[in-house]
Amino acid sequence: MVLEIKYRFRPFKPSDLEEVIRINRDCLPENYTPLFFMNLYKRYPQAFIVAEINKELVGYIMSRIETGVPNFKLLGVTKKGHVISLAVLPKHQQKGIGYSLMLEATQAMTNYNAKECYLEVRTSNLAALGLYKKLGFEKSRTLRNYYADGENAYLMSRKLPISAK
Ligand SMILES: CC(C)(COP(=O)(O)OP(=O)(O)OC[C@H]1O[C@@H](n2cnc3c(N)ncnc32)[C@H](O)[C@@H]1OP(=O)(O)O)[C@@H](O)C(=O)NCCC(=O)NCCS
Repeated sequence: MVLEIKYRFRPFKPSDLEEVIRINRDCLPENYTPLFFMNLYKRYPQAFIVAEINKELVGYIMSRIETGVPNFKLLGVTKKGHVISLAVLPKHQQKGIGYSLMLEATQAMTNYNAKECYLEVRTSNLAALGLYKKLGFEKSRTLRNYYADGENAYLMSRKLPISAK
């Protein structure tokens, strides 16, 4: 008998903090204080989403809503969703979870009236680059020495909303 694995996506809650920090440390060199995670949750609770299977957390996405110069218009200011951190535990990668987390988070960004979404990604991170390309993100510019170890980042952005493929 083949058991189908069901992932569930839901908003972060404070009791998830320890697990989210563990996933962040397992998956990424960019780590944050508990206060940083909690502040983003308090300000933009809908845009901080976790993926779970059988009540075990396997991934998360954390975002912020900012007001700034638009990438896709010439004038004025606009609300933009900024993906701060996204990770899926290695044994659950390549099953569509990162894609679904991005769809859920960008949907939440539109609830905060964001018109575009942007993020930074290491130029060597082929998995993440593939994910963002699949979601229709484009490279807006290169940020030299963006990361603490000196690696460059691509700043990638796209208009919202995003429809699932
Ligand atoms: C990037 C990351 C979040 C992707 O999550 P995931 O759940 O494995 O991704 P998905 O299964 O949803 O894949 C969606 C698309 O991303 C791309 N992708 C995912 N993993 C890939 C890989 N190892 N190599 C190339 N492309 C990949 C593919 O285009 C894929 O679409 P497809 O399945 O139709 O080929 C995950 O690899 C991760 O947590 N990495 C470590 C942390 C990290 O790099 N975070 C992002 C920082 S910017």
